[in-house]
Amino acid sequence: MRCNLWLALALGLAVTGCTREQWHRFPSPDDVIAAVPWFSVMHTGIAIQPYKMPRQPAEGAVPVTGIEVVPPPIPQNEAALNRLRNPVQQTAASIERGRDRYEIYCSLCHGDGGVGDGPVAPALANAVRDLTDPRQVARSDGWIYATIRHGFGALMPEYGSKISPEDRWHVVNYVRVLQGAAR
Ligand code: HEC
Repeated sequence: MRCNLWLALALGLAVTGCTREQWHRFPSPDDVIAAVPWFSVMHTGIAIQPYKMPRQPAEGAVPVTGIEVVPPPIPQNEAALNRLRNPVQQTAASIERGRDRYEIYCSLCHGDGGVGDGPVAPALANAVRDLTDPRQVARSDGWIYATIRHGFGALMPEYGSKISPEDRWHVVNYVRVLQGAAR
C-alpha cells in the first residue's frame, strides 16, 4: 500500500515533467503553510514579549498551581493592605532569595542598604524613600508587597510583571532585615 503510493507519486512527477524553471515558480513553503487556515493561526498569533505578563486565565478557569491574588491599589486601601497576611516565613532561604531579587530590582534606586542612595536616586531628584526610615518600618508587610506589585506614586515603577508573588514576599522579608540592621 505504502509502496504503491510512492510509485503513484513518482509516476505523476514523471508524467508532468517538472522542470527546474517551473520548480522556482512554486511559492515558498512558508506561503503554502500560511494559506492553510489552521496553520495561519500560528503566523498571526499574538506573541508574548519578554517582561510581559501572560494573559489572564479565562473566567471560571480552574488554577492548577494557584493564581495571583492581586492586592488592592496603593495608597488608597491601607486598611485592606494591612490585613494581607505574609504567607512566607522569614527563613534564611527566604531572606537570601529576597536579597537576590532586591539587588536586581530595588538597589539601583533604594541602595544596597535600603537608605535610598542607589545610583539612580539622584536622577529622581532624590525622591527615593529611605526604607529604613521609622515611617517605612511601621508599614505593614501587605503595604510593602502592594508597593512592589503596583509601584508607588509617579516615580516608582511597578514590579508586578517582573517579580512573582512569592518572590515579592521574599523581598518584603529582606526589606525587614535591612530595616532591622539599620535600627
Ligand atoms: C526607579 C527607582 C525605583 C526602584 C527601582 C524601586 N523604587 Fe521603591 N520607590 C521609588 C521612589 C521614587 C519612591 C517614592 C515614591 C513617592 O513617594 O512618590 C519609592 C517608594 C518606595 C516605598 C515606600 C512607599 C511608601 O509607603 O511611601 C517602598 C516600600 C519601596 N519603594 C520599595 C521598593 C522595592 C521593594 C523595590 C524593588 C522591588 C523598589 N522600591 C524599587 C523608586 C524606586
